Amino acid sequence: MKFFIDTANIQEIKDAAATGLIDGVTTNPSLVAKEGRSFPDVLKEICEVVDGPISAEVVAMDFAGMLAEAKPLIAIHKNIVIKVPLTVDGLRACQALTKQGTKVNVTLCFSAAQALLAAKSGATYISPFIGRLDDIAENGMKLIEDIRSIYDNYDFQTQILAASIRHPMHVVDSALAGADVGTMPFSVLQMLYKHPLTDKGLEKFLADWKKVK
Ligand code: E4P
Repeated sequence: MKFFIDTANIQEIKDAAATGLIDGVTTNPSLVAKEGRSFPDVLKEICEVVDGPISAEVVAMDFAGMLAEAKPLIAIHKNIVIKVPLTVDGLRACQALTKQGTKVNVTLCFSAAQALLAAKSGATYISPFIGRLDDIAENGMKLIEDIRSIYDNYDFQTQILAASIRHPMHVVDSALAGADVGTMPFSVLQMLYKHPLTDKGLEKFLADWKKVK
């Protein structure tokens, strides 16, 4: 399973990259807005830190606007992946961008039907938002499982990018369900290391080691 870090904060991206476990980065308009910086500047800096797919989202609502916005973003770096929303225009933009050789991440996916449309549109990634489904008492993980079955049934190459991950079990369950990628906040990546028995065991080993002559 590939790990992407879901943030536009450069320090977090540097810290995450230093673990040696990060394969890519996802950003979205809300994450970029939090940084209070120009979008191209943030993207350029991210591309210098992580050598992997970097998702950059367009905010135009119409097909032509999405393509126009995508153009300068693609020019920033070869690793830029254009993120489009799961709408009719978003999927048309996905088809056009894919045809020209640009990788596309279709975002805001909340149903298996939508994921099927994204795969048929040639998306490189589909981003099902599991946390936001759980928030409204729906089953986010069931969506990952359903998409996995559908994609395997037809050998779709679109990668399932489990998004809106809120805690370590979202990562574990996504891996069990066969998601190709999990994108997570830095805080969740840090939580994955933790186990009380590791801390307790280490404490004991270090205490005992002091007795060694
Ligand atoms: C994915 O690409 C999104 O940026 C992200 O996972 C959304 O997560 P949220 O629901 O915690 O905002």
